[in-house]
Amino acid sequence: MSAQNSRLQAIVWTRPTLTILNQLVLPHSSEYIPIPDSAAGHHAIVTMQTRGAPAIAIVAALSLAAELGARTFATNAEAQSFIHEKLDYLSTSRPTAVNLFDAVTKLKALVSGSENAAEDYVDAAEQMLRDDIADNTAIGKNGAAFIEARRPTGMQAIKVLTHCNTGALATAGHGTALGIVRSLYQKPAGRVLEHVYFTETRPYNQGARLTAYELQEEGIPSTLVCDSAVSALLRSDPTIRAIVVGADRVARNGDTANKIGTYQLAITAKFHGVDFIVAAPVTSIDLALESGKEIVIEERAMQEITQTAGFASESIGESELVRQTVQVAPVGTRAWNPSFDVTPAELITAVVTEKGVFEKKNGRGVFDLAADIANA
Ligand code: MRU
Repeated sequence: MSAQNSRLQAIVWTRPTLTILNQLVLPHSSEYIPIPDSAAGHHAIVTMQTRGAPAIAIVAALSLAAELGARTFATNAEAQSFIHEKLDYLSTSRPTAVNLFDAVTKLKALVSGSENAAEDYVDAAEQMLRDDIADNTAIGKNGAAFIEARRPTGMQAIKVLTHCNTGALATAGHGTALGIVRSLYQKPAGRVLEHVYFTETRPYNQGARLTAYELQEEGIPSTLVCDSAVSALLRSDPTIRAIVVGADRVARNGDTANKIGTYQLAITAKFHGVDFIVAAPVTSIDLALESGKEIVIEERAMQEITQTAGFASESIGESELVRQTVQVAPVGTRAWNPSFDVTPAELITAVVTEKGVFEKKNGRGVFDLAADIANA
């Protein structure tokens, strides 16, 4: 269903079959796992076999589409109530990314008003997959044009930095922040974007494992840095002109929940005069929230910090790889592990969406995303 590089296709839907790339074993193994129903979809999201705000929503929606393909209902009302119940269940998987809740709300409304609930549901879930690829391509184009236009006079090629994984693996394809990196690099072949730095993204290492894998696959020149090296890096290299990140939930005023560590990147970007750009489809913007104070932040297991996860193998060959964890901190160490943080709007230069690039107006410290989206 997507024209993208198949090794980077995280979600494969061929009606009525859903398979996903198991992100727990990347980058060492490319393993597709079947998702036959909403229980498997819920499990895949909770265990991080799939992750990233748009991908979570689409896998949830399509897991139920797959389940519907194997069921028949005596009446439309029965199908409606089954779908509602399963959507409620899917929305208990992870709390922070709004895309899942947005998808659930839209799908419930569609099903409530449908005389062919099961069929219409599957069509709508499929459409979400197609829309996400189109939206990300537009985000990439809009963001690349914005960054290119802001190059300082006399600086031909620039560098950027990104955090977490926001690429094809976190979406239906192309990616959001990493989609901008891709689009910028294509413009024309590496002459605007010379190099990408990306953080390891502790503690789950979405950067070191997943973004590294995507950038290698694409052949984009890149360097991995520790999360704690970014300030030193910005000071040492003035050709880094932008930090580009994704979003799990953006409030109406532009406050942005994204992977833990994003907030400190925005602070250091401001200090060093570097643009801080949030890339997100409109489905990641929660217009019901006035500010980021209301965003629920997921807290994950302490072991993600007290242990490191890796792979070990005695023999050559990916199938021999064994997942291993190593205890780093003394047993019994307590850890605080919020998975996301909220970056205040005042630190954000622009929010790049498929509908356009939104900036703060009239010297205000916050965005008016409701008006920006309505007028786009
Ligand atoms: O915990 P994860 O891996 O689901 O977190 C993902 C992120 O924070 C991404 O940056 C965000 O979802 C944007 S994905 C296009």
